[in-house]
Amino acid sequence: MTRINMTVDGVSYSDEVEPRTLLVQYLRESLGKTGTVIGCDTSNCGACTVHLDGTSVKSCNVLAVQADGHEVTTIEGLAQNGELHPVQQAFHECHALQCGYCTPGMIMQACDVLKNNPDPSEQEIREGLEGNLCRCTGYHNIVKAVQQAAGTMNSASSASSASAASPASSQAVSS
Ligand code: FES
Ligand code: FES
Repeated sequence: MTRINMTVDGVSYSDEVEPRTLLVQYLRESLGKTGTVIGCDTSNCGACTVHLDGTSVKSCNVLAVQADGHEVTTIEGLAQNGELHPVQQAFHECHALQCGYCTPGMIMQACDVLKNNPDPSEQEIREGLEGNLCRCTGYHNIVKAVQQAAGTMNSASSASSASAASPASSQAVSS
C-alpha cells in the first residue's frame, strides 16, 4: 500500500491505496465521488474525465498514485456556491443529454476546451470533444450547449472586465 495525498473538489484527502489503483477507482470507491463514471475502462469513451491540476484527463488512464500531491476536480466540484457552472447550465438548457451517462465526462472536457479556446468554432468543439463518446449520439445538442456556454462565459468575463475598470471612474466622480 502507498499513502497518497490529494485535493479533490477543494477538500484534502490522505489515504493508503494499492499502487495499481486507478484514479477513477479511488474517486468512486474511496471518496464516493460516483458522479465520475466508468464507461469502458480502456481510455476510449471519456466518461471518466476529470481535471488534474486544471487539465482534463481520463481518470481510468491515470493511477491514483500519479495524482499524489495534485489537485483534482470532478463533476461534483464544478458548481460554485450552489450555482451550476455555465457549461452545466447550458447542457441543461440545450437538453444536451439523453441517458446522461456520458454527461459528466462531456462537461469536464467541454470546460477544458473552453479554457483553451474561449470562442471555438463548431468544428473546434467537435474536435475538442472527439475523445468523448455519447452512446445516445446526442452530439448535436452537446455542441449547441458548448456554444451557448462559450457565449455566457465570454459575456461574464466582458462584464467583469468592465466592472474592474469602473472603480477608477467612480472614485473620480466621488472625489
Ligand atoms: S472509462 Fe475512462 S475513457 Fe472510458
Ligand atoms: S447521453 Fe447517453 S451516452 Fe451520452
